[in-house]
Amino acid sequence: MLHQFNVPLDRDSEEPLYRQLIRYIKMQIESGQLPAGARLPASRELAEHINISRISVVNAYAELRAEGYLSAHAGRGTFVNRGASQPAGANTPPKQPPKSPMPQMHHIDQSDYTLRDMIRLSKRPGIINFSHGAPPPDFYPMGHLREAINAILERDGVNALGYEQSEGYAPLRASVRDYVSGLGIRCSVDNVLITTGAQQAIDLIVQSLTREGDTIVTANPTYLGILDIARARRVRIHSVPADEEGMRIDLLEQYLMDGNKPRLIYVMPTFHNPTSAVMPLHRRRQLLNLANEYHIPVIEDAVYHELRYEGENVPLLKELDETGIVIHVSAYSKILLPGLRIGYLITDRAYLERLVRIKAAADVSTSGLNQRAMHYLIQRGLLTYQLDHNNRELRKRRDTAIQALVKHFPSGTAWNRPQGGLYLWVTLPKNGPSAAELFMTANKKDVSFAVGSVFYNGSGGTYNLRINYGLEQPRLIDEGFRRIGEAWHELMGDYHHVEGAPML
Ligand SMILES: Cc1ncc(COP(=O)(O)O)c(C=O)c1O
Repeated sequence: MLHQFNVPLDRDSEEPLYRQLIRYIKMQIESGQLPAGARLPASRELAEHINISRISVVNAYAELRAEGYLSAHAGRGTFVNRGASQPAGANTPPKQPPKSPMPQMHHIDQSDYTLRDMIRLSKRPGIINFSHGAPPPDFYPMGHLREAINAILERDGVNALGYEQSEGYAPLRASVRDYVSGLGIRCSVDNVLITTGAQQAIDLIVQSLTREGDTIVTANPTYLGILDIARARRVRIHSVPADEEGMRIDLLEQYLMDGNKPRLIYVMPTFHNPTSAVMPLHRRRQLLNLANEYHIPVIEDAVYHELRYEGENVPLLKELDETGIVIHVSAYSKILLPGLRIGYLITDRAYLERLVRIKAAADVSTSGLNQRAMHYLIQRGLLTYQLDHNNRELRKRRDTAIQALVKHFPSGTAWNRPQGGLYLWVTLPKNGPSAAELFMTANKKDVSFAVGSVFYNGSGGTYNLRINYGLEQPRLIDEGFRRIGEAWHELMGDYHHVEGAPML
């Protein structure tokens, strides 16, 4: 049996070894080399044979079981499932999965499933969760929201519950204009479109400016939501590498000088997700110069901009924009609460009218009740109060997270020191387990984080973790980091710990 497992592993590849093993076993099954019912070698045997860690084999088997290729029988071993293989000349045709009446969605790839699995695993009750991109639920202004909704129903009656104008509830548009003018953006109510979260704002812009097969530019790594939008709208992404100051504008310039014609550029200049990088002023100016020279609209995604708890504010791109080339996108999701789904974009009036038509087709309007609630909360000064409180608390959580990292993570770990936002971007030593391997083991210890590779278009991030330290109370931050550190050390070589551990 073992002679069949001459797995061609590329140990210098960005692709984790356990993923390479998964690919190999799938190929063996799909080609019929490993027929239905065949028994796989024990994980320890295979690990020794191909010279990788046993936990990598355990994780590969676990994932293949989850996908239906293998099944485990207690005491007997791991076997290829019936219907997973299609051996040449087999008498009984392999069982086909039931045919769906829906057309295949070719643009959804395997990485989506891995990410979805991770999100599902992170939602178990009791887990210490650093993985989501949400602000801390213990900051949500529950009492104020209850009061706002009651007061609005009392005040507006059924009017609060009808269809709203697609552009947005007029008083909220005015509040947004006043709010962004406090951030340095001069505009009128006609420049404000209320959207269902920042995500919808970005999607509407991509829909309006691109056709299938067009290219848009993002940094690499980047916000997952833009990758989702590009896949759904069948738009290509050209990824420009990012460093600790955000997108490398010199590389963007090279790309444009080579004659490429992207339809738009998407950036998060302040507290980039996932790295928390802030683009300095000189780079913002270079970006604007290039965008104007080549006539390429820029989406400025500013959802984390106000979550600054240290350092000097850097002006928004929209504040620096003199020609209208920047479309400013933001939301109250990260600074107040994500569930009301109130976002907005600021752009010139003629373009906004095109976007309104697309928005009307998408969802008619953002919930009128939620818009009124947000307006009510802003009018009562809640944003100012909340931001002050949140930023003070987030700073404490960041400090706790960095102390815990120093205490519990292996030497050779590198990280940023965010001046705001929600995320630590951690780089593990490259001589140890990948972030994906660590995720699986850490998850068994009831702690989760986001694996860096999901934020990359193409390969990258194998040894990176995105940790949303804001999500947990300081006491749990230390405990969560302790468990991640322990998982790393276990994977690193002390297999006496994992020998007795239950299979995944
Ligand atoms: C950079 C970035 N943009 C947009 C969004 C989506 O925001 P919203 O919840 O307002 O749609 C997120 C949420 O994670 C984000 O991180």
